Amino acid sequence: MSVPSLFGEGERAVVRVLVGKTIVEQDAPALARLRETYARVVVDIGTGDGRFVLRGAREEPDALYVGVDAVADNMVATAQKARKKPAKGGASNTLFVVSAIEQLPDVFDGWADALHVGYPWGSLLRAFVAPDPEVLERIVRIAKPGAQIFVRLNQSVFDDGEYMTRLELPPFDPTRLAATLGSVGFEVESAEVLAGDVGERTTWERRLVAGSHRKTYAIRGVRSEAMAKSAPAT
Ligand SMILES: C[S@@+](CC[C@H](N)C(=O)[O-])C[C@H]1O[C@@H](n2cnc3c(N)ncnc32)[C@H](O)[C@@H]1O
Repeated sequence: MSVPSLFGEGERAVVRVLVGKTIVEQDAPALARLRETYARVVVDIGTGDGRFVLRGAREEPDALYVGVDAVADNMVATAQKARKKPAKGGASNTLFVVSAIEQLPDVFDGWADALHVGYPWGSLLRAFVAPDPEVLERIVRIAKPGAQIFVRLNQSVFDDGEYMTRLELPPFDPTRLAATLGSVGFEVESAEVLAGDVGERTTWERRLVAGSHRKTYAIRGVRSEAMAKSAPAT
């Protein structure tokens, strides 16, 4: 797969993570050591303000919660809060990664026991609507074989043809998306339109759908074993 990577030929692998409001670089061995200290990892792609990550980490102290977003500023307030003592709302079992999914180094491949994508916009939304097998495969590879994958898309956007045209997106085709997801190792178990609160508890879920008539296109499935054959060992 020809996804751009921060891993240059012979270069040290580097990932940018937020520690409070500071971006620091972490190399692959340090990240691998961190991964090994947790029995379970949950990854949220396009995490936005990262509150889903912090809340999950506080509820599940034995699991590592990883948020990935292209925009560091979105995650700063939560990354700062995460550094506080647990009594003050902090959680050390969090990692906030600053990267567009298209550029995410493959150091995270095979990490996730559960993988989430919630209400994406921009190029992340485009990947699901186009659909773009290269970006979708990049996402799916983060999940372990057999890991659960949850995707929630804003169906109300798909229902607004004019808005879709303004976003320069083609009409949403669920059948095509399911087939593309299947081809990149995401076995879809259910895909349905839900009205109102879907219980995901992210900021955009609350903003967009909770208590309103806006709809969510919810996809749930697992990373297939077949795909795992070509995945790196974890
Ligand atoms: C509407 S917000 C949703 C945030 C969060 N998931 C929630 O439900 O509250 C969409 C997020 O996707 C991020 N995003 C868009 N394209 C991305 C990409 N290619 N890679 C990583 N993040 C991306 C944006 O920066 C933004 O924070």
